[in-house]
Amino acid sequence: MAETILITGGAGFVGRHVAKSLLEDGHRVRAFDSLIEQVHPARARPVELDPEVELVVGDIRDGDALGRALTGVDAVIHLAAEVGVGQSMYAVDRYTSVNDLGTAVLFQKLIDKPARRVVVASSMSVYGEGLYRTADGVLMEDVVRGPRNPDGSWDPLDGEGRAMTPVPTPETKRPALKSVYAINKFVQERLTLTLTAQYGMEGAALRLWNIYGPGQALSNPYTGVLAIFASRIMHGQAPMVFEDGRQRRDFVHVSDVVSAFRLALERPEAVGETFNIGSGEDRSVEDVARLQAASMGRGDIEPNITKQARAGDIRHNIPDLTKARTLLGYEPKQDFTRGLEELAAWVARQESKDRVAEARRELELRGLVA
Ligand SMILES: NC(=O)c1ccc[n+]([C@@H]2O[C@H](COP(=O)([O-])OP(=O)(O)OC[C@H]3O[C@@H](n4cnc5c(N)ncnc54)[C@H](O)[C@@H]3O)[C@@H](O)[C@H]2O)c1
Repeated sequence: MAETILITGGAGFVGRHVAKSLLEDGHRVRAFDSLIEQVHPARARPVELDPEVELVVGDIRDGDALGRALTGVDAVIHLAAEVGVGQSMYAVDRYTSVNDLGTAVLFQKLIDKPARRVVVASSMSVYGEGLYRTADGVLMEDVVRGPRNPDGSWDPLDGEGRAMTPVPTPETKRPALKSVYAINKFVQERLTLTLTAQYGMEGAALRLWNIYGPGQALSNPYTGVLAIFASRIMHGQAPMVFEDGRQRRDFVHVSDVVSAFRLALERPEAVGETFNIGSGEDRSVEDVARLQAASMGRGDIEPNITKQARAGDIRHNIPDLTKARTLLGYEPKQDFTRGLEELAAWVARQESKDRVAEARRELELRGLVA
């Protein structure tokens, strides 16, 4: 049945892709977005936002505007957020205001105008370090990474000084909130699941890994590592890779994230649950930087391995997707090499200002890289 879906942050990267998919299936889509300058330098409706989307420009903390935008809405996908782990460590009030107060205002309004379902975008960052296994095969949940190890290596060590191996992290791992952004995302999750249950709505939260794909803001140096690398490579600059580049992540194509949101919106099994969403394939950040340079025809550009760590960063975190696969029927489909080629083709058509050096200076000025 066709529904009216409100996507907060719907003019952003993920929101535009989700909107397109919903429209294709005959739903009506309203986007509520304040078009922040860091993501939308022109502060104008993005050309990539489908013309069929009704865009309401407003701030998520503006209850009156949000209340009006909720009129006639059947379901909400809550994406509006300040997005960036490093930046959250110094823009503390801004991040917490938009992400957590913003979510609180959304639910304050939903109490009066309830929706059938609310799906919120959470993040892998709520786990802090992922799950690890010691050399003796013991699973370790609460790994805390210290500064660099005395021998110059970076992987967390067990009690006997042996490096531990990252293993896929399930939703049951206890959260370890290591950045303001992670704290914000966890609060968003809990507000969503607690208040939907309390007020007769249905709620679900998706813990998303690193998303990539066409449309991610290239001018935003604080988020989207592949967009950041692409922007550097496009300007003939080496991608900057923190630590030794061997940290492992999961890069999930935006089309797979779209399918996860669609399932979370529709499946009865999603209600009251959190789900890991990734590609199911983990890679080192250095390998990804090399593959991406090659995909852009710049295989000659070597990544710049900085050997520096950023405050709030984690070493390894890769998802266990069993729950999303079995309960939601989620199955990631995008091939990584094809995804990088598609991204390269899109990037080649864009203009962006390389602001990565500027972003790094911001962190250095505040002593957040060491
Ligand atoms: N991109 C990723 O890799 C990733 C990973 C994990 C989680 N997430 C989450 O997914 C969601 C979408 O991410 P994205 O990559 O599309 O980010 P994005 O920055 O492209 O989109 C976010 C949108 O929110 C809007 N926004 C920001 N502050 C607002 C405010 N005060 N009021 C109204 N709108 C506001 C922005 O203008 C932007 O259009 C976010 O909640 C993010 O935390 C993203």
